[in-house]
Amino acid sequence: MLRVVVMVSGGGTNLQAVLDAVKDGKITNAKIVGVISNRADAYALTRAERAEIPAVCISRKDYAQREDFDRALLEAVDSFAPDLVVLAGFLVILPELLVKRYKNRMINIHPALLPSFGGKGYYGLKVHEEVLAHGCKVTGATVHFVDEGCDSGPILLQRAVEVKQGDTPEVLQRRVMEEAEWKILPQAIDLIANGKVIFKEGCVFAQES
Ligand code: GAR
Repeated sequence: MLRVVVMVSGGGTNLQAVLDAVKDGKITNAKIVGVISNRADAYALTRAERAEIPAVCISRKDYAQREDFDRALLEAVDSFAPDLVVLAGFLVILPELLVKRYKNRMINIHPALLPSFGGKGYYGLKVHEEVLAHGCKVTGATVHFVDEGCDSGPILLQRAVEVKQGDTPEVLQRRVMEEAEWKILPQAIDLIANGKVIFKEGCVFAQES
């Protein structure tokens, strides 16, 4: 059984998609053992509580130094002894040690087709604003393994989503979530939990079933 920790900062709709997929048997061989939020008011914490998943909040505000916050974050993750760490809308620059310790064992969901619209400053609604500003006709979502860079690790899954005329950032964000994020994040966890992910020459592939 793959032990999964989910890290969140906000509404937690991706967390909910994962919890639902475990419940519905769409994710097998995995157990969500903990949720970590950096915001005490994140609705994701309520979702965790409702699902009876242990949840903790590690807020930067509670630590005078960034190093102390980083250490607390690392300790919180380690305390769940996870096999996989899932960043589901976790909007904090990760401590280097955390990235190193969980190399090839940490994935992130990003609301665009990387490497487009990724990197520093590209998160949440901002991503969709930029997609619309460029007049893109297609966008989507990406699940990738996390490396030392920002949104730069090996890509595991992507799904494209149509951009429609008259879309607002909010409307597009919702469509990307519904049609892509909430599908490929659970799918990625299921692939990993069932040993169907292959690392090869710096890239990563899902094994055809
Ligand atoms: C999601 O759209 C996720 O892709 C994005 O934050 C949102 C979190 O929503 N993540 C990033 O932008 C990371 N760069 P949620 O809390 O409802 O799952």
